[in-house]
Amino acid sequence: MKKIAIFASGGGSNFKVIYEKIISWDIPAEICLVISNNPSCGAIDFAEQNSLPTFIVNKTRYPDSHSRDIILMQNLLKTDIDLICLAGYMKMIPTNIVAHFENCILNIHPALLPDFGGKGFYGIKVHEAVIKSNAIESGATVHFVDNQYDHGPIIAQRKIKILDTDNAEILAERVLKAEHELYPEVVKAFCENRINWESGLPKIVEERKE
Ligand code: GAR
Repeated sequence: MKKIAIFASGGGSNFKVIYEKIISWDIPAEICLVISNNPSCGAIDFAEQNSLPTFIVNKTRYPDSHSRDIILMQNLLKTDIDLICLAGYMKMIPTNIVAHFENCILNIHPALLPDFGGKGFYGIKVHEAVIKSNAIESGATVHFVDNQYDHGPIIAQRKIKILDTDNAEILAERVLKAEHELYPEVVKAFCENRINWESGLPKIVEERKE
């Protein structure tokens, strides 16, 4: 069983779908820690309601950035974390953590990276930019995390066609549905050791059906 730490800053709907798959035994893992910069976000409320350990890390609690990074790392090591899932976490992951957990940190982004990602592309802004660009498709991307926002080897994407009836809000809802399918699939593949590296790129090995 892999030990997962979830990092979330907002409502935590992606966290919730992963949690549901874990408690229904579909993903062989355990959520050992939920980390947020925002003590009053939906993700922390949900974690507390479900008796999952939480840890708040932000400038108010730890004004010194070096101490903040160290204490965050200590919490991850203490819990023996195998996998970190960023689920709407709006802060940069400290470089010491990225280095220690190389290819063990996943992020989901609500667009087809490398387009519409990086600084400034968060929340509804992503979908506004997609609509404005007249793109014909959008979707969700799950990738391993490196030291840049929304960057690092792409593991899987789920595409959706942009419809004439879409505006940024409608598209956001449709992409979120795609995220809720895609993210648990990738987390499951990681937990079942089904992510292989081929020519330097991660690739999911399909589940064997009985
Ligand atoms: C999701 O749409 C996720 O893709 C996005 O934040 C939202 C969190 O929603 N992440 C990013 O934009 C990362 N750059 P949730 O709290 O309901 O899971």
